[in-house]
Amino acid sequence: MTDAEYNLISKVNPEKLPRHVAIIMDGNGRWASLQGLLRSAGHSAGVKTLKKILTVAVNLKLEALTVYAFSTENWKRPHAEVDFLMHLFSDYLEREKAEMHEKNIRIRFLGRTDAFSDGIRNRIREATELMKDNTGVKFNIAANYGGRDEIVRAAQKLAKKAAAGEILPDDITDEIFENELDTCGQPPVDLVIRTSGEYRVSNFLLWQSAYAEFWFTNTTWPEFTPEEFVDALIDFGNRDRKFGAVKN
Ligand code: FPP
Repeated sequence: MTDAEYNLISKVNPEKLPRHVAIIMDGNGRWASLQGLLRSAGHSAGVKTLKKILTVAVNLKLEALTVYAFSTENWKRPHAEVDFLMHLFSDYLEREKAEMHEKNIRIRFLGRTDAFSDGIRNRIREATELMKDNTGVKFNIAANYGGRDEIVRAAQKLAKKAAAGEILPDDITDEIFENELDTCGQPPVDLVIRTSGEYRVSNFLLWQSAYAEFWFTNTTWPEFTPEEFVDALIDFGNRDRKFGAVKN
């Protein structure tokens, strides 16, 4: 870690750190348009931001970081943009996986990745397999992900178990349901960050963020900095979380 990186993370009280941070990386397209660039340039710039934020997460020993890379609705974008994003994900995995592994990151993909091409699925499989025993930051990439879709898939899995007589419907609890989600074994989301001035959840981690705090910024994702990320974490540390109870 460099001195500058150390100084930055020293601003955060480790006792008030969220366990799980989720980020909606919005505004790549707007940033690119403002620069007179193609939207694809915005996504490429977004990858650079992601790398910097992941480094902060590693330095802080954050337990889990989830980023929204591609929603189940993003297929509606122009074909060329979807195609570009697919290549970007694939290149990113190939280029970054060794360094991520070295940093003890455990990568996981949330969503219906079976809809992707063989090439991408292979890269996802290789990266996941390589890092599966790592014990550092749990880094989740939500790709072809929708919160409702994830909940429906979990319900289907439980319904199949019930139909097969493996479980009684009345035995289904929050915990049993959670075990069927893509994030199984991970802590609930404490903090959701959304960039680029939008105030929406956009079908992201609906179950997991039931009690999450939200932090919004007008900064577009390509312009989002480690300093602003740390500001969000410090702000989170000052929140009074009640989880539906009354606090004195
Ligand atoms: C939202 O910006 C961003 C996306 C739909 C794609 C997010 C992808 C990246 C940041 C690329 C890096 C990800 C990985 C995992 C390598 P937008 O295009 O909706 O922006 P706009 O709202 O300004 O149009």
